[in-house]
Amino acid sequence: MATIGKDILKVVQLLEEGRLVAIPTETVYGLGANALDSIAVAGIFKAKKRPAFDPLIVHTYSMEKAKEYVSEFPAELEKLAKAYWPGPLTLLLPKKNIIPDLVTSGLEKVAVRVPDHPLTLQLLKELNFPLAAPSANPFGYVSPTKPEHVNRQLGNEIDYILDGGNCSVGIESTIVGMENGKICIYRLGGLSIEQIEKIVGKLELRINNSDNPTAPGQLKSHYSPMKKLLIGNIEELLEQNKNACVLNFGSKKFNAPTFNLSEISDLTEAAANLFTGLRTLDESAAKIILTDYLPNIGLGMAINDRLTRAAAEK
Ligand code: TXA
Ligand code: MG
Repeated sequence: MATIGKDILKVVQLLEEGRLVAIPTETVYGLGANALDSIAVAGIFKAKKRPAFDPLIVHTYSMEKAKEYVSEFPAELEKLAKAYWPGPLTLLLPKKNIIPDLVTSGLEKVAVRVPDHPLTLQLLKELNFPLAAPSANPFGYVSPTKPEHVNRQLGNEIDYILDGGNCSVGIESTIVGMENGKICIYRLGGLSIEQIEKIVGKLELRINNSDNPTAPGQLKSHYSPMKKLLIGNIEELLEQNKNACVLNFGSKKFNAPTFNLSEISDLTEAAANLFTGLRTLDESAAKIILTDYLPNIGLGMAINDRLTRAAAEK
């Protein structure tokens, strides 16, 4: 098992040696390594059993610093960075040569983000390289939002987990880029479409999907618990399924073991609880997990996206 602690100097030392460390962010825990060192980055793919066609997000501490890794920063995306960095926003920008091809899986654009977590921001300022970090879970499984989640699944692959407590947002960053001069959303996430539109105006929503994904977060089946997850009218599903448990939202009560994402129907609270809820029910005695879609506004859109992929046939 890995050590869980707050020793930033120890983390700096491990990362400088090319090792992997789990780091807290406001969205989910990341599995970090020196983004400029291909060998260190290769360790991430190995530990996660992640296919090499799945590129990684590069984390740094400011927009100025991000500019050292990209050759172009379109004005519209710069507006978003100014408004929402640090925060749950990842931007796809043309990369400079200093970013190894393994980080972008050979693509010309690199995903960059400034995470909003005090410990990780402090760490990023101490380092003289940025961190490549995917979510710290085995490929395809639910993302981790607590240090213990990381330890249970990847504890044997890494030495240290930087303890930043529970992730406040709880759902991965929203990935935004540009194609043919138009803003494009590649993954729904912790920054809502409404928040993005407040800065850049109305978007044509064109989220790439399933069969020919540019990002595995767009794969039909992703973010999945081991157990089968069914989405629909929970009362009807309970009549048809024995030995079920419920991932609930709101004050309605069901006659089955239940994890409630938010009794007061708050979407922000639900996003923060989503992955803990799926894990808790996955580890329970029930055989199947039942849930229903949340209102499809604000963070509800990203939550519904994760539920659809979690429920998809593997
Ligand atoms: O909130 C987050 O974004 C978390 C924390 C740790 O920062 N990270 C995260 O990383 O969710 P990961 O690797 O689990 O998901 C990143 C997604 C993947 O679906 C990947 O394919 C996509 O970002 N991505 C990364 N670089 C890309 C690129 N150059 N072009 C297209 N998609 C890219
Ligand atoms: Mg992931």
